[in-house]
Amino acid sequence: MGDRFELEKGLADEIRARVFGEGFMKLVQSVRRGGETFRISLRPVEIGSRRLFQAEMVDAGQTQVKNFGGSEAAAGLEEIIAQKGARELHLITAAGDLHVRVTRKGHALVSRSAAMNRKVEPLGHDRVKKTPLNTFDSAALLRATGIADGAGNIRASMRGKYDQVNEFLKNVPSRLAPSASSDATFTVVDCGCGKAYLTFALYFYLTQVCGMANVKVYGVDRREDVVEAARKTAMALDVAGDVEFVAGDIADFAPRPQDGEDGARGARVDMVVSLHACDTATDEALAKAVEWKARYILSAPCCQHELQKSIGEMSGRATGPAAVFGGLLRQSILRERLCDILTDAFRALIMRILGFKTQVVEFVSSEATARNIMLRCEYGVKPGQSGAVGEYLALRDYWGVTPWLESRLFALLERHLAQYR
Ligand SMILES: C[S@@+](CC[C@H](N)C(=O)[O-])C[C@H]1O[C@@H](n2cnc3c(N)ncnc32)[C@H](O)[C@@H]1O
Repeated sequence: MGDRFELEKGLADEIRARVFGEGFMKLVQSVRRGGETFRISLRPVEIGSRRLFQAEMVDAGQTQVKNFGGSEAAAGLEEIIAQKGARELHLITAAGDLHVRVTRKGHALVSRSAAMNRKVEPLGHDRVKKTPLNTFDSAALLRATGIADGAGNIRASMRGKYDQVNEFLKNVPSRLAPSASSDATFTVVDCGCGKAYLTFALYFYLTQVCGMANVKVYGVDRREDVVEAARKTAMALDVAGDVEFVAGDIADFAPRPQDGEDGARGARVDMVVSLHACDTATDEALAKAVEWKARYILSAPCCQHELQKSIGEMSGRATGPAAVFGGLLRQSILRERLCDILTDAFRALIMRILGFKTQVVEFVSSEATARNIMLRCEYGVKPGQSGAVGEYLALRDYWGVTPWLESRLFALLERHLAQYR
């Protein structure tokens, strides 16, 4: 009974030759099963410097991705060829297309396009308008994280997150300093990763666009449920070895040393990112980045409450800053915005004092999120410069507050601040 669905040998050989020959672009097979469509696609990808085959399976709305070397891909192709039941196979190569429809009765209807001479784009590069998420083939990533639906369209409810992640990635420096040696692991920590949209996007961006061969990304979040879901997504995307999720507070997290690292000195961290880590979690991310001696920090703060209380208490007083800012402090919205701005100004100044070149940018439009400020820091300026320390102390003492980040990093800041007292 099953044999009537078997492809005849000449056709199966043609499929093998097209997939493993020059100019292979993509194979897609769809099988209807019990009212559901199971779809598998295979395409060549370049990850780091390795040429692999990427299989994407979509079954009952769930996406699963796996990268294979040649022999595993050959075994996978045999499974595709041996699939039973009514199905459609579409094979695209630079030289032309092959289309096979196997009917419910097991007849294989075969058609071939005229000979073509398609241009094969360099692997991992996209053909549309260049934004980080379409500089590489992000379809599987977007589907697996739920940003896109099964058909690959960005869900209306996820448009803001898509834009945030896309624009966030634009701030990854175009020339990242290589790690200690070229094959060393480039380690990233995403603090308060939540559902890990950014965590995964950054991993694929670094490996597929920046061409880094060894990347380890940690996503840390104190919510067990989101971490569990992110782990499943990592498995579905076949990156669980490189993208690891840890449930817990950022303050308690320490990355594991990678092969070749001196365990006693702790693991090297190259980049710390945070996207809307709530309140002082942003400060904790900055503090950890300083302690880990991370070279790069990209941090888009979220709500913050820490100064609201102390500055809010000034409202109505006739002395101190309230004597001048009374009219502003009385309005809760204006007071809130002022506190946000002051908090980010303190953060930026502290990072500068500690040796980071720091820029405050609007990383995305305010339609994508009202929280569209990013602190972009790169280690490499002389710590404790008088200009930065002077500006920090003047602003802090004018407002008569102690920013949370100062308290958190006091052990490192003390000697710089003490010089100018
Ligand atoms: C607003 S969500 C943003 C999630 C994700 N970065 C994104 O942009 O989609 C903030 C996340 O930070 C996590 N979080 C807040 N404070 C944290 C802390 N101190 N340690 C670990 N995770 C924290 C929360 O559990 C939450 O998942």
